[in-house]
Amino acid sequence: MKTELSLSTPAELATECLVTVALDHGDKDQPQPSIETADRSLRHAAAEVIANGEVTGKSFETTLLYNPANLKAKRLLIIGGGKAKSFSPFELRRVAGAAVRSLKARSIRSLAFLVPSNGLNVDSAVRAIIEGAFVGNFDPDTYKSDRKDQRIDAVTIVANGDHTRLGRALEEARIIGESQNFTRQLVNEPSNRMTPTALAEHAREMCADSGLKCEIYGAEKIKDLKMGAFWSVAQGSDEPPALVIMRYEPEDAPPKPMLGLVGKGITFDTGGISIKPADGMEKMKYDMAGGATMIGAMRALSLLRPRIRVIGIVCATENMPSGHAQKPGDVQIAMSGKSIEIINTDAEGRLVLADGLHYARQLGCTHLIDAATLTGACVVALGYVNAGVFANNDEMYQRFERARERAGEKMWRLPLDEEYKESIRSNIADIVNSGGRYGGAVTAAMFLKEFAEDTPWLHLDIAGTAWMEENKPWIAKGPSGIAVRSLVEFAKDFAG
Ligand code: BES
Ligand code: MN
Ligand code: ZN
Repeated sequence: MKTELSLSTPAELATECLVTVALDHGDKDQPQPSIETADRSLRHAAAEVIANGEVTGKSFETTLLYNPANLKAKRLLIIGGGKAKSFSPFELRRVAGAAVRSLKARSIRSLAFLVPSNGLNVDSAVRAIIEGAFVGNFDPDTYKSDRKDQRIDAVTIVANGDHTRLGRALEEARIIGESQNFTRQLVNEPSNRMTPTALAEHAREMCADSGLKCEIYGAEKIKDLKMGAFWSVAQGSDEPPALVIMRYEPEDAPPKPMLGLVGKGITFDTGGISIKPADGMEKMKYDMAGGATMIGAMRALSLLRPRIRVIGIVCATENMPSGHAQKPGDVQIAMSGKSIEIINTDAEGRLVLADGLHYARQLGCTHLIDAATLTGACVVALGYVNAGVFANNDEMYQRFERARERAGEKMWRLPLDEEYKESIRSNIADIVNSGGRYGGAVTAAMFLKEFAEDTPWLHLDIAGTAWMEENKPWIAKGPSGIAVRSLVEFAKDFAG
């Protein structure tokens, strides 16, 4: 999708469709919704549908007018932004996605979006619209023979302000939006096409395109490195595993801090010998979403070029039952030397991450973030709305929290206190890999914490948020690309 900034008068803009936001004020003094532009011709064009009550400003309400008088645009889309009081870049991002989704379904190929005039910071408004438009432009129907391929090809942002500054905001948002969709593409692929080897090759190709160093290790190297936890999952599959290391090391960045991004890349999770029920198992193709998130984030960073070193690590393997598969009761020695009693072979994500996190520390990372579709318990706790965040360091959490807010993603912190440690105690080894049903998201995080040790670390459990369970006005059902934007914002902020 091409993106462009325009400082022209909205009424003078020749476009397939001009999009403007209507906000609901819902009070006695201002019973009517407002059209968020100062352009008089445009306000005039919308006056009738406002006066007759067709436009209310309700979230995602769409009203499409054809050949609006005194406008050069062929159409005018008035899209509801919800309550004026709570309207923020978060809502604007979704509204932009909804506009794209509603217009592309009508075979419209380009649009011009007016930055709302209601006092939002213009910079963040431009970013929100572009990011939201990219999110809305993605569809997962790759393998449909009658795929219509309805997409918006070009978005123009109509804004007032400094062209250079807004242009930079737009460019950055485009990189982030494209990277999020890159992640979504990887997650969308089925496991027969997105094997660990294929996932690693996509990472390699991305790195080659964007000037990142990339190393890919196979089974032999994983065993040589004594990654006993990672290998214990990989040993059960006929598909070779892959350990992907992507390095973004700008020369103008100080040696420290060095951020490590570690992703769970289970390209299919059958559960292994502790096999999952058949019902819904097809969804376990998205168990590599954490890994894809890191590949997308590395892509964005390589193009945005913040002054900070970042290493991206993806631990990619299938989790399969076979004659070679590990069994409940087995004891594995992780790369860090910790012994793990396998209670449930379906708790495999924490095993691959244990070695991924340890390896990141060994490579010199001073700060760690992992992302993983780690637990069903996180879905029970937070549903499909918020991702779970865990932290062993409050300062790092606070920084992340601000980045997450700017990125407009929903996540919620869950606890990690030592009292939970009891539930991962083993009789035969240092720890077990499953703490049982209660507090499952927390005990999984407690397990990972053992491998982050004293390095400041965040864990993002995206089990409930990496896959949209239904179509929403602003995003299609399917892979969401959650966490890419927050991670990129965090790294940018860390670079200062
Ligand atoms: N990949 C799953 C978690 C998951 C569940 C992701 C639902 C997305 C949607 C993970 O590997 C898993 O199987 N976790 C187990 C852990 C249990 C055995 C301790 C779970 O959550 O049931
Ligand atoms: Mn599992
Ligand atoms: Zn899994």
